[in-house]
Amino acid sequence: MPKSIAIDGPAGAGKSTIAKKVSAELGFIYLDTGAMYRAVALKAIETGINTKSREDLINIIDNINITITHDDNVQKIFLDGRDVSEHIRTAQVSAGAADVAAIKEVRLKMVELQRRIAGEKDVVMDGRDIGSYVLPQANLKVFLTANIDERAKRRYEELVLKGQEVYLEEVREDMMNRDHNDMSRAFAPLKKVPDAVEIDSTSMTIEEVAERILYFYNNYANI
Ligand code: DC
Repeated sequence: MPKSIAIDGPAGAGKSTIAKKVSAELGFIYLDTGAMYRAVALKAIETGINTKSREDLINIIDNINITITHDDNVQKIFLDGRDVSEHIRTAQVSAGAADVAAIKEVRLKMVELQRRIAGEKDVVMDGRDIGSYVLPQANLKVFLTANIDERAKRRYEELVLKGQEVYLEEVREDMMNRDHNDMSRAFAPLKKVPDAVEIDSTSMTIEEVAERILYFYNNYANI
């Protein structure tokens, strides 16, 4: 049975960076599940479908072909055969991803793919519902948080580095809305499960967080 580490938490807590680092240390693959919801949103946007329309999304979800590859621990995501790893990182796709992620039928389809991947390889999977729903049997569950100001600052700096023109207050606002959506949806919302280790990364470096997770994995994982 392949091993798994689930890392859940709100936007901007550092999940992807940490998951990449931990997976590289352990020789596991890394799966950023948010990219899948982003790919569905991109498909909807490109097809002219409202990302809030459950009916329209149900109509296309079975015909969306999402594949993930890992080369040297770098995840690439393909939508209908096209590499969309960069296209899914815009503000429009972020907002659309939060919409499509609230739709149960979309989630069921993505979860099927996530579980299939975890069934084949050792994985560090990051998302919102990994420990609570996708992989309840994960060997270690981490709930990664940081305070909202710190999360907004990190995301703001990341976007500025990418050359995007953004305002800190807007990034903060957008993040709070997304957190609210993710925590309040009816199906598989973001939440900390009792058997998850909570790590507040507000004043920790990436290395410190990764080390803490590796420590928990080596000493307390349920293997
Ligand atoms: O982590 P991210 O920002 O790339 O996620 C994009 C959106 O998808 C975000 O609104 C949360 C949602 N998501 C989810 O509902 N469940 C997951 N397992 C991963 C992401």
